[in-house]
Amino acid sequence: MPSLRRFLCFAAAFGIVFMGSAGPFSRAQATNFPVKPPILLGAAWYPEQWPESRWNTDLNLMEKAHIHLVRVGEFAWSTMEPTEGHYNFAWLDKAIAMAAQHHICVVLGTPSAAPPAWLTSKYPQTLRVSENGVRAQHGNRQQFSFTDPLYRKFVYNIVLQMARRYGHNPDVVGWQLGNEFAAPDFGPTAQTQFHAWLKNKYGAIANLNQKWATAYWSQTYNNFNQIPVRADHENPALLLDWKRFVSDTWKSYAQNQINALRPNIDPRQFITTNTMGWFNGFNEYELHSILDIAAWDDYISTDHYDYLDNGARHDLTRGYKRKNFWVMETEPAFVNWRKTNTPLKKGQVIDMAWQAIGHGADAVEYWQWRSAPNGQEEYHGTLIGADGKPVPAYWQIKKLGKEFNETGTALQGTTPHSQVAIINDYDSRWAINFQRHSAKFDPVKEMLAFYDPLRTMSQAVDIVSAQAPLSSYKLVVAPALNVLTPAEASHLMNYVKGGGHLILGPRSGMKNIDNGLNPQGQPGPLEPFLGARVEQSYALNYNVPLHGFFGYGKANIWAEQLTVTAKGSAAKNVHVLERYGRSNGWLDSQPAIVTHSYGSGSITYVGAWLNPPLMKKFAAWALRDADIHPILANIPTGVEVCRRSNAAKDIFILINHSTLTHTIRLPRPMFNLLGNQSVRVSAVTLRKYGVAVLETSPK
Ligand code: GLA
Ligand code: GLA
Repeated sequence: MPSLRRFLCFAAAFGIVFMGSAGPFSRAQATNFPVKPPILLGAAWYPEQWPESRWNTDLNLMEKAHIHLVRVGEFAWSTMEPTEGHYNFAWLDKAIAMAAQHHICVVLGTPSAAPPAWLTSKYPQTLRVSENGVRAQHGNRQQFSFTDPLYRKFVYNIVLQMARRYGHNPDVVGWQLGNEFAAPDFGPTAQTQFHAWLKNKYGAIANLNQKWATAYWSQTYNNFNQIPVRADHENPALLLDWKRFVSDTWKSYAQNQINALRPNIDPRQFITTNTMGWFNGFNEYELHSILDIAAWDDYISTDHYDYLDNGARHDLTRGYKRKNFWVMETEPAFVNWRKTNTPLKKGQVIDMAWQAIGHGADAVEYWQWRSAPNGQEEYHGTLIGADGKPVPAYWQIKKLGKEFNETGTALQGTTPHSQVAIINDYDSRWAINFQRHSAKFDPVKEMLAFYDPLRTMSQAVDIVSAQAPLSSYKLVVAPALNVLTPAEASHLMNYVKGGGHLILGPRSGMKNIDNGLNPQGQPGPLEPFLGARVEQSYALNYNVPLHGFFGYGKANIWAEQLTVTAKGSAAKNVHVLERYGRSNGWLDSQPAIVTHSYGSGSITYVGAWLNPPLMKKFAAWALRDADIHPILANIPTGVEVCRRSNAAKDIFILINHSTLTHTIRLPRPMFNLLGNQSVRVSAVTLRKYGVAVLETSPK
């Protein structure tokens, strides 16, 4: 009875922990702090904002809620270095030690997102300049210039101090670099660096002129120094290179801090930063090539918790390193920065946290523990109120903490596995966003149009870069792979030749690496392989009917007129699956979806933005064709299935996002980790927002 044994061992470990000895919570070294539990519940804690006399009360309340993690320090530069070169870490030493006494481990934030006033006033060149040329002032945050060498020097120094002090501290489990990398700098330093970056890339200015086709509007440059720094309303080649430069610059900005950390910290301490879902200011895959794990801040994007939308962002984050990740921040019921900051419903806080775990998170951390006594975010949700007492969300989160304790050991070392991959390509998203042609063509929404039915029907989707290894997937979807390089094209062709099923969405293969229109037409280098081409693309503000293999449906926002180009015997393997009906004349009766089979693999091009019912039928076909089945069959609408596994076991996390009660029959008896763990169950009943965590051996 593996589960019961594990449970007993875990329970014992808990007992032992509080006495401070061995087990999964055993000490790393001779301190009060135990090794972190496998699934961590945490909160962002700002001890610098409170008198030390309060800390113990807070930590006590955390411990009672089964919180075993705090993130500390990411906005505390002015407390750590009150004046230039004078450091004060005594408070942080104490805060970490005190947390450890409560069996709480620490992620240290480097304070680079909010420089102190002595720094920015003495060295104003460290402040960022906006695109319209205005230098930032002190008083907010993110006001630094990510290019300025002097700023980087100051950041390096403070991070070095922290690294030397806490790099071997057994109670510190990891590092968060800055906070939510976002706003670039457009000042003179950024300009000089952009010019050097371009020179390094293109060598001679003539080469740049040719690639960017600068004869257009007489943009021809005589030297690199003439090139403007713009993020909007410019030559699309410049705009794309600017984004790539910004990506490289955030990477070197992070590397500067990593240089201070790595030589001074234990390898067991990870380095990460907190990312922001679909934010597309830079290429996350580039940045994550130098980080140890991915982490993100999970705030729902509208005032409605859309679980598919939220789950996609977990899958996106998991794809940065193609392994488990952390939720470094999430909302304890509500935020303060939306138009109307409606709360999650009672129960949804727990639902949302379990969704994170189901999608591969190993930690869920609430922002923030207690509202600051003053400051810009006074209205934000917390666990502790202004009076120092728990708010209602605290009790929900405490319940969650108990559930993490019950399941953590079983979940340890497990991860989601998917047979479907969706490609997220920053170059393509940027290129489309620079020139949407239809304001409604949001590349993320277009990706989600594919994601939603695929996730619902297959119950597991990875979101990865166009360079990721693909051979383990049965189905790969590139929803709008607008910028397609020859190397990516051959990567995709090899995947198909190896038996994979590839689907390309509208606007794929339209652009080359310089964001110019592909001279061989669309879909660029894949055209001969597909055996079909795009004759013309049309932006739509009306529905265009579609009919064919999947029945009737509609296209809106975008429709491409395809033709089959394959000749002779090759044409036998090319099939038109769907055609447009009567609409604007151009599209009437023309192919909209074409597929070409290669042995057991295939490439399919979808030229239209399909409406949801047709997309659902299309996705069902694609999954069937690739021989992909749901992980659990007969699951009611609104119930999400997540599976984390390793060689020895499958853990199913079932979440009822709906308000109806559902009973789910299991295909085989499983141990119910949130119930009586020694009993196998063959069905579970989930009330609204209810969760079941079930363990079984792999089928
Ligand atoms: C104007 C300009 C042209 C071109 C067209 C595009 O007429 O004169 O150069 O930009 O708009 O519609
Ligand atoms: C972001 C920041 C936090 C806090 C929260 C509020 O995620 O990283 O410092 O401002 O938003 O929702």
